[in-house]
Amino acid sequence: MNISVIRKDFPILERKANNGKDIVYLDSTATSQKPQQVIEAMNIYYQQSNANIHRGVHTLAEEATAMYEGAREKIAKFINAKSSREVIYTRNTTESINLVAYSWARTNLKAGDLVVLTEMEHHSNLVPWHMLQAEKNIEIDFISVTDDGLLDLDSYKTLLDRSPKLVSFTHMSNVLGTINPVREMIEMAHQVGAIVLIDGAQSAPHLKVDVQKLDADFYAFSAHKMCGPTGIGILYGKSALLESMPPFLGGGDMIKEVKLRSFRANTLPHKFEAGTPAIAEAVGFGAAVDYLSSIGMDNIAKHEHEITEYALERLEEIQGVKLFGPSVDKKGGVAAFTLDGIHPHDVAQILDQDGIAVRAGHHCAQPLHEKFGIPATSRASFYLYSTKEEVDLLVKGLYKVKEMFK
Ligand code: ALA
Repeated sequence: MNISVIRKDFPILERKANNGKDIVYLDSTATSQKPQQVIEAMNIYYQQSNANIHRGVHTLAEEATAMYEGAREKIAKFINAKSSREVIYTRNTTESINLVAYSWARTNLKAGDLVVLTEMEHHSNLVPWHMLQAEKNIEIDFISVTDDGLLDLDSYKTLLDRSPKLVSFTHMSNVLGTINPVREMIEMAHQVGAIVLIDGAQSAPHLKVDVQKLDADFYAFSAHKMCGPTGIGILYGKSALLESMPPFLGGGDMIKEVKLRSFRANTLPHKFEAGTPAIAEAVGFGAAVDYLSSIGMDNIAKHEHEITEYALERLEEIQGVKLFGPSVDKKGGVAAFTLDGIHPHDVAQILDQDGIAVRAGHHCAQPLHEKFGIPATSRASFYLYSTKEEVDLLVKGLYKVKEMFK
């Protein structure tokens, strides 16, 4: 991988911060930057083929439909789904999880049924289950997280003894970076007859995902964290499960037939896609998976591993820095940390003066921060365009923060 060539694909990396300094973008876990190839694909769609899909017989409508459905094919191939019928466009990972909660879980779970989550979940894999609990009186319990930031598989086994109906957890933590042993955990859940939903928001951008090999029942992810546009995500689901589920939103396109007093739902995948969808965004998503595939997911993962290893080493050198999460061999490109006596927001604000973008806060994982007894962390995160020089600038910036607070 030639990083300087890759960086040229990302126009935003050329721009300067307001004070004229180079932008050092270390917030890809929140959202990735977009390569020219994605921006261009969306422009071409709007400039040459814009029309509504599935509705017209005219040239533009047919072109738009082919582009929208073509992107679905590419995404299905990218995650090795058996069929593109199993790939549902949603707005994002959050909506994908809500779709499962609203449609599958609402239909299949009753009072007292157990849903197993983990203590490291993003709010998007907590709140939909809280909402369902309020409505259906289901039970929720949690696989605990060790001090090293790993899932405690003994606590998982104990929970599986209670025969949960659903197990739902993140493939990769957005705070700790922990890459969970997804395949093994899915197999364990299936042995007790549970359905498994994986939050792949942080993994799909960085690792090769094969939904068939993992044997995931549902897998949710977003385009915007993987070089694609905002406003579009995917819910992968095994076709038998998706077939058995009632629609989520009602309206145009998700129907086969509508009478004044009834409707018949459309076939997969359209059954779950009501209304005019994010067409340009789907085209952009297709271009994003083309882009990532052309570089190679294994190459991307290898590069991120190198950067993360270097970053963790350098950050550890700084007195007062406390890192969260497991060792580099068990995590992806995320470094969440605190700096003794200095609030993470102050850290992020001072770094910003030098054009360095990190995120500060609870990163939508408030219970995980509570578990570690802290309100917030600063978080640097890396992607295919990140460099060791950027890590050096982060480290230099942190020494400056310490100096200012001395
Ligand atoms: N889930 C995103 C993050 O971790 C927004 O920053």
